[in-house]
Amino acid sequence: MTDTASVMTKSPPSAAAREVVLKLTGLSKRFGTLDVVKGVNLELRRGEVFGFLGPNGAGKSTTVGMILGLIAPTAGSVELFGAKQNGNRWAALRRIGAIIEEPAFYPYLSGCANLEVLSRSIGGIEKKKINEVLDRVNLLDRADDQYGHYSMGMKQRLGIASTLLRDPELIILDEPTNGLDPAGTKEIRDLIPTLAHESRAIFLCSHLLHEVELVCDRVAIIKKGTVIADAPVKELLTRANQIQIRVDRPGLAMSVLSELTWAKAAIKDDGYIAVDVPAGSEARVNQALAEKGLYASEITNRTTSLEEVFLQLTGGASGD
Ligand SMILES: Nc1ncnc2c1ncn2[C@@H]1O[C@H](COP(=O)(O)OP(=O)(O)OP(=O)(O)O)[C@@H](O)[C@H]1O
Ligand SMILES: [Mg+2]
Repeated sequence: MTDTASVMTKSPPSAAAREVVLKLTGLSKRFGTLDVVKGVNLELRRGEVFGFLGPNGAGKSTTVGMILGLIAPTAGSVELFGAKQNGNRWAALRRIGAIIEEPAFYPYLSGCANLEVLSRSIGGIEKKKINEVLDRVNLLDRADDQYGHYSMGMKQRLGIASTLLRDPELIILDEPTNGLDPAGTKEIRDLIPTLAHESRAIFLCSHLLHEVELVCDRVAIIKKGTVIADAPVKELLTRANQIQIRVDRPGLAMSVLSELTWAKAAIKDDGYIAVDVPAGSEARVNQALAEKGLYASEITNRTTSLEEVFLQLTGGASGD
């Protein structure tokens, strides 16, 4: 039975029951006098696509550097696959596939030949596996073309294919769509969720809200080295949902809205009532008002994107 088939026949364990593949505890880094990462606590479980979202300079790549043992933490710890990492982490790194910057390949060799070279250096990887990973990233039909002739999106996909050669249990992608045109970005975005399944987790760094919103199950937002939110994407989006209402008797409307356990209302200076509600609640709010003889002259959905939460939480400022 194939891996996918065996996954499909089992009912998946709940997210909380799955093994923690990555755990950061109080992870901190100081460069000179600058505290770049400040006491980051995170957990990533198998099957999750986790977004590490923050403005430029927030400390994402530094955190990844510490996870991979390339940067020594000033304080705190990194646990990979249940084991604390002190010094030698080769055993753990063998189970991780990471792309930190644009992957490096030989331009005059084909995509396939590049993976063959890499396979030889890793050792013990069959030809069959190369075709399998090329197929996985949709490059099989271009496998014999020169790498130098690949589009940026194809180059990035070959990079992801190279991380799959070892069947990693954790894939770390630091800004995988950086420098890609919209088509290339879409290719990578479409690919990412298909890489996650029960036995694999994905840690995706990005400063692009839309990217994280589209592909991640859970997101942590980092600002100036501090994690300021860590929640399922759906939950963050729900938090952000706000509708604006204009009625002729705002006082009465406020008392009606205060009865709704699932809504939080406030009158704004411009006379509108802003109501934080779960997504898609406009009709319910309208109905509650109408039942008390209040008819909204205007009802608009104000916030529906992660961008608003992100801007609210980060103050819209760059981390630099
Ligand atoms: N080796 C270093 N020495 C000194 N400062 C550093 C070093 N590496 C990173 N920094 C600083 O640490 C801060 C965080 O950098 P980092 O690269 O982790 O941010 P990032 O969130 O990955 O940003 P980006 O979205 O631009 O990739 C920045 O202010 C950066 O200038
Ligand atoms: Mg970075």
